[in-house]
Amino acid sequence: MKNIKAIIFDAYGTLFDVNSAAEKCKNKIGDKWEGFANYWRTTQLEYTWLRSLMNRHKNFWQVTEDSLDKSMKVFNINSSMRNELLNLYKVLSPFKEVPQALKTLKEKKKFKLAILSNGTPALLDELVKNNNLDNIFDDIFSIEQVGIYKPDSKVYDMPVQKYRIKKNEIAFLSANTWDISGGGNYGYDAIWVNRNKNIFDNLDYKPNSEIKDLSDLLSLL
Ligand code: LAC
Repeated sequence: MKNIKAIIFDAYGTLFDVNSAAEKCKNKIGDKWEGFANYWRTTQLEYTWLRSLMNRHKNFWQVTEDSLDKSMKVFNINSSMRNELLNLYKVLSPFKEVPQALKTLKEKKKFKLAILSNGTPALLDELVKNNNLDNIFDDIFSIEQVGIYKPDSKVYDMPVQKYRIKKNEIAFLSANTWDISGGGNYGYDAIWVNRNKNIFDNLDYKPNSEIKDLSDLLSLL
C-alpha cells in the first residue's frame, strides 16, 4: 500500500469488542450469552440502517438501548440486567492486540490516526479515555456530525474533507464486512480485519487487503 496518509479505524467490533458487555455477565445470563450478544449487535445495526432509510434518526446510544430492549425480550433476559448491560457497553474492552498496535503506529509519526464511527462523540470519548487510548488519535469522527449512519458516503467523506487528501490515501480498517464494502465502495483503501475467519459479503466490492488483527497492520503499510 503506497501513499497512505491517514489510517482510519471503525470503533465497534474493530477496536472494541461489542460482545464483551454480555460476556462479563455470562454467569448471570448463562450459555445463551453469546447468541444474545450477537442478536443485540445485529438488531442494533439493522436499526441504524432502517432509521437512515426511513429518515428517522436517533443517536447510537438510543439505538443501542432500543435494540437491547428487543433482544432482552427475545432471549428472555431478566429486566434487572438492563442497566448493568448498558453500563458495560459504555466501557467495552479493546481487543487484546489493539493498545500496543495503536501505540506502535503512533510512534511512527507517519500517519494521521482517527476513528470514524456510528457512536456519539460522548460515547467514543468515554471509550477511548476509559481504555487509556486518548493520546493516540488526531480525530474522532462521529456520524452525529452528518446525522446519518454508515454506509452513507457523507460519513466516509468526513476525513477526506478534514485532511484534504484523496480517498485512496486513506487506509480504512473495519472488522464489519458491510463497513468495508461501504468504505471501499466510497473509494478508501479498505482493509478487512477478519478476526474469526468469516466469509466476505457479495456487495460488488472486495477488500484490497485482509488481516487477522491489528498486529498485522504494520507489515502492510
Ligand atoms: C461503528 C460500527 C459500525 O463503530 O461498529 O461505526
